[in-house]
Formats: sequence, C-alpha cells, structure tokens
Amino acid sequence: MKRFFKFFAGVTALTLFSVSAAVADIRLPDPQTEGGIGLFQALKERASAPGGDFPTAPLSMEELSTILWAATGLNRGDQGWTVPMANGLPPYVDIYAALDSGVFKYDWGSNSLIEVSKEDIRGNIGSQNFVAQASCSLILVSSEEGLAKVNDELKKQFAHVAAGAMTQDIYLASAALHVGARYIHSLKYPETRSALGIPDGDEIICLMILGK
Ligand SMILES: Cc1cc2nc3c(=O)[nH]c(=O)nc-3n(C[C@H](O)[C@H](O)[C@H](O)COP(=O)(O)O)c2cc1C
Repeated sequence: MKRFFKFFAGVTALTLFSVSAAVADIRLPDPQTEGGIGLFQALKERASAPGGDFPTAPLSMEELSTILWAATGLNRGDQGWTVPMANGLPPYVDIYAALDSGVFKYDWGSNSLIEVSKEDIRGNIGSQNFVAQASCSLILVSSEEGLAKVNDELKKQFAHVAAGAMTQDIYLASAALHVGARYIHSLKYPETRSALGIPDGDEIICLMILGK
C-alpha cells in the first residue's frame, strides 16, 4: 500500500510539473500610467496606420501592457476599469493577443497574458493580406459568461458599446506610444474562432492590429 502511495505521489508530481512546464503565461510589466503626450495631443494624433504600409516591428512588453491596460485595465483599486461596463460588471469583452509566440488571453486582474496556444495564428485571421504583417493582433471577443447577468436582448448591444470604447482607448494609447494601430472588421471568423477555442456563445467582434 505504502509503495502504491509513493507511486501515486510520484505520478501526481510529474503530472503537475509537466502541466506547469508546458504553459507559458506571461506576467506583464506594469503599464505606463503617467507622463506621455497628454490626452488632447493623443486625440489630435489618433489615426489608423495605413493598411498598405502597416508597421511591422514588434512592441515592447511594456507598450503592450500599457495598451491592454488602456483597453480594460483596472484603474480604481480592484473594482473599476478604464472603460465603462453596464451595471458596473467586470469587463465582458475579452481580449486575446496573437503574437509570434502564440495566443494569449489578457487577464486584467493579474496583469498577465494567459497562454491559450503556442500557435502563431497571425497569418490566418485577417481577410486582408497586410493583417498578417502586424506583430500583434488583439482580438476582441464578447464573453457569454461575462454577459450572463445581462438581458438577452441587450447582450450584443452592450458588448459592442464596450468594444467601441475599448478600441478607441487602444487607438489613443497607441497614439501616445507612437505605435501603429488599425481596427479590422474583415476577418476570417471560422478560422479565428477555432484558433481561439472559444465557447459557441462567445462572439468575435473585431481585431486591433498593432505594430511599430
Ligand atoms: C467598424 C470599423 C470597421 C473597420 N474595418 C476595417 C477593415 O476591415 N479593414 C481595414 O483595413 N480597416 C478597417 N477599419 C478602419 C477604417 O477604414 C478607418 O478607421 C477609416 O478609414 C478612418 O481612418 P482613421 O481611423 O485614420 O480616422 C474599420 C474601422 C471601423 C470603425
């Protein structure tokens, strides 16, 4: 019996080790929340980077962290976000980041990127060729679970209002950081859905492509 427990404990430890070794979540550096060019200058500079000549250099992790924080980061302790959400709910539009190293889901609570897959999907999510050149694509997805407390007839409207606020914050933070950004609606929905492995009730809303 003793031997069985030893074996069992060994197998459990090995399994835990291989699970933690296999997942490569990323703890993001703190976002920039001070300084910069100022809101009015950012409003003056907000623009979509041209698709035909989209910048291809990667963002630093601090720049990515700052842009994600602008999109749905906590800004007032542990209940309050940079964008308004209906009924003060936690953000019900999730952000996935497609990077060269894989696909990650932004966790605003821990300021981390949670690994979804190690696949580089950036070349197979946009209908326009230049989307593949972006070093990072943010994919905004309305969450059925996050919207569970919202009336059915309002879910879509609320999710799209949130995505509008989030994408504008992404544009403004990108302008402040001199990062190129572009809203993309024309995407390969079935391919993107299967790459993200999201539940049937979740809806892909758009991409924000980023590059320097
Ligand atoms: C709802 C929406 C959908 C868009 N879809 C695409 C798209 O699929 N492909 C693209 O290249 N640009 C897309 N854009 C970017 C617009 O073409 C761009 O915002 C517009 O030309 C105005 O330029 P500006 O953002 O620099 O003011 C979209 C923008 C919005 C707001």
